[in-house]
Amino acid sequence: MTDLTSIDVSPDGGVLTARFAGGAARRFHAEWLRDNALDPATRDAGNGQRLITLADFPADVRIASAHTEGDGVAINFAPDDHVAHFPATWLAANAYDGGQVRPAGWHDGVEWDGSLTPLSARFDDLANPVMRRDWLAAVRSLGFATLTGGPVEEGALLKVVETFGYVRETNYGRWFEVRAEVNPTNLAYTGLGLQAHTDNPYRDPAPTLQILYCLENSAEGGDSMVVDGFRAASRLREHDPAAFDLLASHCARFTYASGGARLTARRPMIDLTPDGELVGIRFNNRSAAPITDVPFDDMAAYYKAYRAFAEIIDDPAMQVSFKMSPGDCFIVDNTRVLHARLGYSGAGSRWLQGCYADMDGLLSTLSELEAVHGAA
Ligand code: FE2
Repeated sequence: MTDLTSIDVSPDGGVLTARFAGGAARRFHAEWLRDNALDPATRDAGNGQRLITLADFPADVRIASAHTEGDGVAINFAPDDHVAHFPATWLAANAYDGGQVRPAGWHDGVEWDGSLTPLSARFDDLANPVMRRDWLAAVRSLGFATLTGGPVEEGALLKVVETFGYVRETNYGRWFEVRAEVNPTNLAYTGLGLQAHTDNPYRDPAPTLQILYCLENSAEGGDSMVVDGFRAASRLREHDPAAFDLLASHCARFTYASGGARLTARRPMIDLTPDGELVGIRFNNRSAAPITDVPFDDMAAYYKAYRAFAEIIDDPAMQVSFKMSPGDCFIVDNTRVLHARLGYSGAGSRWLQGCYADMDGLLSTLSELEAVHGAA
């Protein structure tokens, strides 16, 4: 649908209709066309940023004349006598008159359960741009990937982040320690597992990526585990759509106050765009504050939904677990994939370092790599 066969303009000059090879007809408003004109007076020829505001042309802007020219349409707007050219491919790609496809986002990946075989790469592989592209693409599509064979040294996790973006520094610093010495004389009080969770739901925006990097792991157990929160939410929607709607349509609250930091966020556990796309999960029993945004009459049903969601997350069939050795790490999309530490048993030590980063940098790097080396 990229070759134009004909165009016409409505009698009042308010609408252009473009007909494409194959028969598709797409209408465009004059105001929309004027705002999105591609000429160098409207858009910077270098960075593509818009140079005008809506105040720079009147709301009743109209198409004085239009004709096919070259590979597209030339339009003369009134009353400002502005001339702009719109390539047919651009019109087809930006059509909003039915048949348009929502642009792919990073959350358009494949949902998975405990049967997933994670994509794992060697730390040194990231120096190879094609292998780096493939590893980053797994983070985009699955929200999760692992690395092995990295240096066993403090701060090595920053070298992973440097391959695609920037550390998100927080009140915990550029990175934080996840260290527990297992005391063999007091095993009863050590090595408790943690329920799968997303990190820092009390932060707004929450960090969109987390890396956990292993420096020591001689304890028995202490495996790491991840769950696809989108798959969990989809399962809830399949089995109990009303429960899904309750969690998506009411805000939960999350809070953290310690060490001079006071953080709160008011967000739903299941975050949807206005058109229903699943874009975020916040789930963390340890930092959930009292929920006060659900009406009394709905609270019992809300808790039933919350419990049902938690039971799906706790279902072993949803979980991918793995043991990290020193020099191994994993990365999660913290807006989607929940992570957990399973319980310890036995003597030994477990020392991880963690840090946050953000998906914008990763997607930008991935997009640059795909521009040069092709799509993953
Ligand atoms: Fe965590």
